[in-house]
Amino acid sequence: MANRQLTFSIFRYNPHTPEIKPRMQEYRLEELPGMTMFVALNKIREEQDPTLMFDFVCRAAICGSCAMLINGKPRLACKTLAKDLPARITMFPLPVFKLIGDLSVDTGTWFRHMSLKTEAWVHSNKQFDPAKPEDRMDNETALKIYEAERCIECGCCIAGCATANIREDFLGAAGINRIARFMVDPRDERTGEQYFEIMGTEEGAFGCVGLMACDDNCPMQLPLQMQLAFVRRKMAAVGWKYKPQAV
Ligand code: FES
Repeated sequence: MANRQLTFSIFRYNPHTPEIKPRMQEYRLEELPGMTMFVALNKIREEQDPTLMFDFVCRAAICGSCAMLINGKPRLACKTLAKDLPARITMFPLPVFKLIGDLSVDTGTWFRHMSLKTEAWVHSNKQFDPAKPEDRMDNETALKIYEAERCIECGCCIAGCATANIREDFLGAAGINRIARFMVDPRDERTGEQYFEIMGTEEGAFGCVGLMACDDNCPMQLPLQMQLAFVRRKMAAVGWKYKPQAV
């Protein structure tokens, strides 16, 4: 049986040449066995159009660089197989993030802001003693931390999120997952009130409107819905007694 002929309709726009208006451009390719969208895009760039912009580093669903909207859904191009898609495929850059050009977006600035806002480091007043053995941690806690740290910062959860698409200060599922990681870490000495200042707001855990697209779109299958429930329960328990300072 002959291989399918695929038609790619790809968003084209370079913010450095605003005189050329955003448009959709079509390319045709023969489907190959095991072809991913990453392979297809590289073939298009090598054989048909060297100006096409998109990102990738690892080709193995580890770096998070190749996320884009494929047939309307945020996905990793290197993990998305042509055989799972119809013969007509549309590609757009992820929304929410700054467009670099065509399918390439700047997720780094967003994730850096989120990391600073959530103060994504272990807060401890203990003096570091390099001669001391490392503190022990029970396996269950270590696994919870490991689970949250599987996030590859691809931005799929943010791009698919209704709140993140309408308010730019929302920390999103990636931010909530990041905070959950530190909340379970016994080395982090932040108080419930300190966490509340970051997450007990509409920018944090209470900005989510519960559509759960983050959970549906996460290519790592992180339990984002559970993390949200965990952080919300913690924030509700703190907020019951805590009176935040008026701004
Ligand atoms: S290229 Fe690294 S996740 Fe796709």
